Amino acid sequence: MKKIIKNGLIVTAADTYRANVLIENGKISAIGTHFDEDGAEIIDAKGCYILPGGIDPHTHLDMPFGGTVTKDDFETGTKAAAFGGTTTVIDFCLTSKGERLKNSITTWHNKSKNKACIDYSFHLMVGEINDEVLDELPQVISEEGITSFKVFMAYKNVFQADDETLFRTLLTAKDLGALVMVHAENGDVIDYLTKKALEEGNTDPIFHALTRPPEAEGEATGRAAQLTGLADSQLYVVHVSCSNAVEKIAEARNKGLNVWGETCPQYLVLDQSYLERPNFEGAKYVWSPPLREKWHQDILWNALKNGQLQTLGSDQCSFDFNGQKDLGRGDFTKIPNGGPMIEDRVSILFSEGVKKGRITLNQFVDITSTRIAKIFGLFPKKGTIAVGSDADIVIFDPNVERVISAESHHMAVDYNAFEGMKVTGEPISVLSRGEFVVKEKQFVGNPGSGQFIKRAKYGDELSEQGRESLQSTQI
Ligand code: URP
Ligand code: ZN
Ligand code: ZN
Ligand code: ZN
Repeated sequence: MKKIIKNGLIVTAADTYRANVLIENGKISAIGTHFDEDGAEIIDAKGCYILPGGIDPHTHLDMPFGGTVTKDDFETGTKAAAFGGTTTVIDFCLTSKGERLKNSITTWHNKSKNKACIDYSFHLMVGEINDEVLDELPQVISEEGITSFKVFMAYKNVFQADDETLFRTLLTAKDLGALVMVHAENGDVIDYLTKKALEEGNTDPIFHALTRPPEAEGEATGRAAQLTGLADSQLYVVHVSCSNAVEKIAEARNKGLNVWGETCPQYLVLDQSYLERPNFEGAKYVWSPPLREKWHQDILWNALKNGQLQTLGSDQCSFDFNGQKDLGRGDFTKIPNGGPMIEDRVSILFSEGVKKGRITLNQFVDITSTRIAKIFGLFPKKGTIAVGSDADIVIFDPNVERVISAESHHMAVDYNAFEGMKVTGEPISVLSRGEFVVKEKQFVGNPGSGQFIKRAKYGDELSEQGRESLQSTQI
């Protein structure tokens, strides 16, 4: 049945205007002021914004890490994402040395199919470059539609790749049309500082932050940017947490390099002092890079405002406080790294960003959706309100006030890192390809309804599916 969204204010990365949206066959078929309502379901968006569904470019659902597995899987994680106004997630498919990439990708398909309530895609971790990997990567792009590769510069002896691997991944990505993503922290320096801290008996959660200083992030970010220039390739720096890294990204961009930067809500509103909370509560705030001294927040906000950073990812990687974070009592290196962020990503940027005058309403849409779609080859299928685009739409009430709490969140994890924080603005209803996933704040979605999305190569203006959708709407 066709649907018509009426009485709302459409907000895109470019414009804010009053119009109605006609939805047919899962797509936006028209935008206008008068549609024939016979046989249509009418959605009243009075007092609300009509936003393109959020795109979360950085999630770890059902991911093994530190001897345990993240609490949220593709079912609970995507359900919580939808409640938070996100309609697409791009999750990281891990690989192991010696394993065929195809097998790793199959593992990730098995984790997600029949579970995801919204559409999803994968990035692929590259941990080594050898003949087998070089042989397989072209198919990863052409057959799987996975067009971004992730290289870890930290987590020594676990995920960390050396500089040769990073450099050759950059060269390969350039040839194949892929984007290289980096976790930029100097893993060797961190490894040394960590061992030293433990030797000195410094085992509390705060030492997680103190052994991963901002300089280690700035150095790795600068190194990755330099290697990107040398390879004439393209780079996306995930979870930027500090001034040191922002400086390196800005410097690279000023030179004209293709370097993008993402930050996360946790770095915008929480700070290092959270790791010092008593009774091991600091463990709730252990992730990498760590929370920084508060003054870094102004630098991050400013970088979002002036475009030095372009996107907001959640880095969703949730572990229960009881039973999982616990593993690190008496040794901070055993605290599983990560936090539950998928649900509150959009709300926090709206409330702390738009409502507090730090960014504009259109920038908010760009940072949480449109720019991500463009960088990762999803545009214009995803990431905007336009004729021919998927009807991934959020009806967002900008004036509702609520308090974030684990009591009311939809993630499976037993705490919320933003517990007690007041935010203004909330998604009321959320549609994925024209079907309600959340309707009037109630979950009405179906695990398994989310589709795997093949993405366009880096730099291709339109994804294959984007091209098809535009053709089908040409008059
Ligand atoms: O601590 C974090 N961020 N855990 C998830 C893995 C990563 O580094 O992104
Ligand atoms: Zn009529
Ligand atoms: Zn990371
Ligand atoms: Zn991550």
